[in-house]
Amino acid sequence: MTQQDVSEVSVHINDTAVTVEQGTTLLQAARLAGVEIPTLCWAENLTPVNACRLCVVEQEGTRALIPSCSRLCEDGIRVETDSDRVRHSRRMILEFLASTNDLSQSAELQEWAESYQIDLDRYISPEKNNDEVKIEDDLFVRAYDRCVLCYKCVEACGDDAQHSFAIAIAGRGFDARVSTEYEVELPESACVYCGNCVGVCPTNALQFKVEFDLRESDEWRPEDQSTTETICSYCGVGCSLELHTQNNQIFKVTSPSDHSVTSGHLCIKGRFGWQYVHAPKYEPSKKS
Ligand code: SF4
Ligand code: SF4
Ligand code: FES
Repeated sequence: MTQQDVSEVSVHINDTAVTVEQGTTLLQAARLAGVEIPTLCWAENLTPVNACRLCVVEQEGTRALIPSCSRLCEDGIRVETDSDRVRHSRRMILEFLASTNDLSQSAELQEWAESYQIDLDRYISPEKNNDEVKIEDDLFVRAYDRCVLCYKCVEACGDDAQHSFAIAIAGRGFDARVSTEYEVELPESACVYCGNCVGVCPTNALQFKVEFDLRESDEWRPEDQSTTETICSYCGVGCSLELHTQNNQIFKVTSPSDHSVTSGHLCIKGRFGWQYVHAPKYEPSKKS
């Protein structure tokens, strides 16, 4: 019999035994076992906040479903990631979200809505979130009628990345929403326009202005879009950039969230300083 290293733990994910290092979450262990679990508020470059509960799994012998994105593996436990109870819980969460928010611009949420066969009419919201789109500049817009209060933007603006603390969740219950201090406009807030909040938003509530304009004018064509990897040219850090383009027009700039330098986060120059790429070509006048 092989002896298990004390720094390792063994868990059963849907009857598959997985041995992982101590400190590994159930979500990570499941992925090692080739099992996908949906997540909404979790991201590999942010601290888990347990806000959405979409990632819950059923642990044998426990009463409540547990969030796999933050719960660490304990030796010997057995979890089911797709039991009837788990599917029922996820379906309810998706139905609640759809009852108050516009989820149409999130490909993942659309996919889950279909695979969990959600009933869009089960819950009628007393007040659908109809917040007006906040357009304050040419960089990004805030359309909080799509916001699912996942906290990702708050984390990215706070101590997970930017340390600007320009936005937080204000209000409680039905009134809870992402807000700047005293709801001042973004230019009056502590925002430094890094766009890290936009980079992590899973629903397009925070959206690049160029993308917003393309969608508004009915010119949004995913089939004509591509992504090019390059290096930011502004300073010696040399952050990796992904330029998302449609017909050679940049509409969004991101960085890979697993990148060892950026962890997916950028500054205003890398994120929004690309207009020079589209500057008109300089044609020197010919001397006779
Ligand atoms: S752009 Fe940057 S500083 Fe401004 S709210 Fe978003 S994360 Fe915070
Ligand atoms: S704006 Fe986006 S990232 Fe921020 S809480 Fe809402 S859905 Fe999450
Ligand atoms: S992804 Fe785990 S609680 Fe949201």
